[in-house]
Amino acid sequence: MAKNTVLTLAKQVAEGQKVTMVTSYDYTMASIVEAAGINMILVGDSLGMTMLGYDDTIPVTMDDMVHHTRAVTRATSDTFVVGDMPFMSYQLGVEQALANAGRLMKEGGCQAVKLEGGVRCAPQIHAIVEAGIPVVGHVGMTPQSANSFGGFKVQGKSAENAQRIVDDALAVEEAGAFAVVLECVPRDLAEFITSKLTRCFTIGIGAGAGCDGQVLVAQDLLGMTPGGFKPKFVRQFAQVGDAMRQAYVDYAEAVQSGEFPAFENGFKMDPEVMDQIRRNN
Ligand code: KIV
Repeated sequence: MAKNTVLTLAKQVAEGQKVTMVTSYDYTMASIVEAAGINMILVGDSLGMTMLGYDDTIPVTMDDMVHHTRAVTRATSDTFVVGDMPFMSYQLGVEQALANAGRLMKEGGCQAVKLEGGVRCAPQIHAIVEAGIPVVGHVGMTPQSANSFGGFKVQGKSAENAQRIVDDALAVEEAGAFAVVLECVPRDLAEFITSKLTRCFTIGIGAGAGCDGQVLVAQDLLGMTPGGFKPKFVRQFAQVGDAMRQAYVDYAEAVQSGEFPAFENGFKMDPEVMDQIRRNN
């Protein structure tokens, strides 16, 4: 696969090809994503749930994001890596947003940052872009604001709410973001926003097929969600969780029965050296 950059991604969209994105949070998973030829990795703050066991993304820190982003970028050379800005790492203002976006890029090694919010975050997006850091926006159902939405609910069903999302997406584009995630919005609205944006491409999650690209959380896509919860917009492309559980059960049984490790899994020793050890002890 050739290296993905903001230019190649924009060209891909202009040529009518969809952009693929998936979340990754560690070296092993990112190596597999890179080998699969996926265009973009999002080191999402969803790692709060998938990797750290929190109920939501609110407790995730900049240190968490830097740590996981660094692990991912050690595995990638062609995949375009986006680091997510966690809750309260950019909301306080432009200076805070710039400092943290710079840190995620310098210490995490990612090629862009993502932050949630439209109109209200436009000054932060503008400042980060001006500093030479590509930005992905995120509008619609923004998980860091789930408490204000009354939960993880589809957004944009009423005319007023849909207009707010259109305004947010346009503000993100105007501020200079090169892409925007549309999360959990009706498919017609996502398609309309996609047609309105000319300098910024859309990446949908729960937003239908009319977006320029798609993103899914790796654990959802792979069928690895603890408790088996599957949102409506997810397709499980494999049952990796079941395969892993079975592998652990088989391993434990093989150890208990003495069948593992087998003779060929061990290392040879010079019999004379072993005799010497026996004589001396
Ligand atoms: O954190 C994340 O994984 C995300 C995706 C759901 C888009 O923001």
